[in-house]
Amino acid sequence: MDNLFRLKDLSVKEINDILDLANKCKDGTYDNYLKDKIIANCFFEPSTRTQYSFNTAQLRLGMKVISFNSDNSSLKKGESFYDTIKTFESFNIDGIVIRDRKDHYYEELKNIHIPILNAGDGASDHPTQSLLDLLTIRNEFGHFEGLNIAIVGDIKYSRVAHSNIEIMERLGMNCYVSGPEEYREEGYKFIDFDKAIEQMDIIMLLRVQHERHEQKMQLSLEEYHRDYGLTMERVNRMKDNAIIMHPAPFNRMVEIADDVVECDKSRIFKQIENGVLVRMAVILKTIGGM
Ligand code: CP
Repeated sequence: MDNLFRLKDLSVKEINDILDLANKCKDGTYDNYLKDKIIANCFFEPSTRTQYSFNTAQLRLGMKVISFNSDNSSLKKGESFYDTIKTFESFNIDGIVIRDRKDHYYEELKNIHIPILNAGDGASDHPTQSLLDLLTIRNEFGHFEGLNIAIVGDIKYSRVAHSNIEIMERLGMNCYVSGPEEYREEGYKFIDFDKAIEQMDIIMLLRVQHERHEQKMQLSLEEYHRDYGLTMERVNRMKDNAIIMHPAPFNRMVEIADDVVECDKSRIFKQIENGVLVRMAVILKTIGGM
């Protein structure tokens, strides 16, 4: 694998291979496997989980890591995104992790010849988030085929929703969306939230991404919580073996109640744990040539 831009570029077999390798990374087999390699993490948009779980994965692999700080860089002197990335390539490093607010930013990086790992582009794709979601689901249920998932919330502005629905449908899952009308998108199957609660195997909540909106949300935060928030009363109506997921960061008492965050059905922190494993796996597949 030369780069990781989006899961659409990978076959179902390639995706399952990455998940298999991620599970193998658990026992330390690949710790220090890439100890001679240098990687840069270039985040042009804020991040906690993706940035630092890539960083943790790189440290587990024994890599040497450069953390780019965009606020203290020559971007402030007018240097372009392309020239910044070209500069890192010229350091003769082995790979680069990039997050940017622009959709498909990698299309302007065709002249960069080191592996690029996409850590999220605009509202389009978040391939490593989807991989960690898939690992969490496969490890929980043992398969994908026939599972029902509802992704609830700000679908329109969510790279997680867009990335996940494409690959989950390819893997045989039944994907539905739910949430406020203002954040719905044509082309997806809609389900009423309270129906979804009772029928789905997986409820995946999303944060309202105010930073990507031009207009203020029509609902107040209290109204959002009342109509679309996952409360314990709703959790108690879910199927016995159903689970709750969220890419995080989450807003307590908006899309999720405080006491639901770490309840028995929640896999939110398991997703974060799995994030390190899938990021080790994609680095091994690209920079490690596995
Ligand atoms: N899930 C996710 O992408 O979180 P961060 O924005 O904190 O990386």
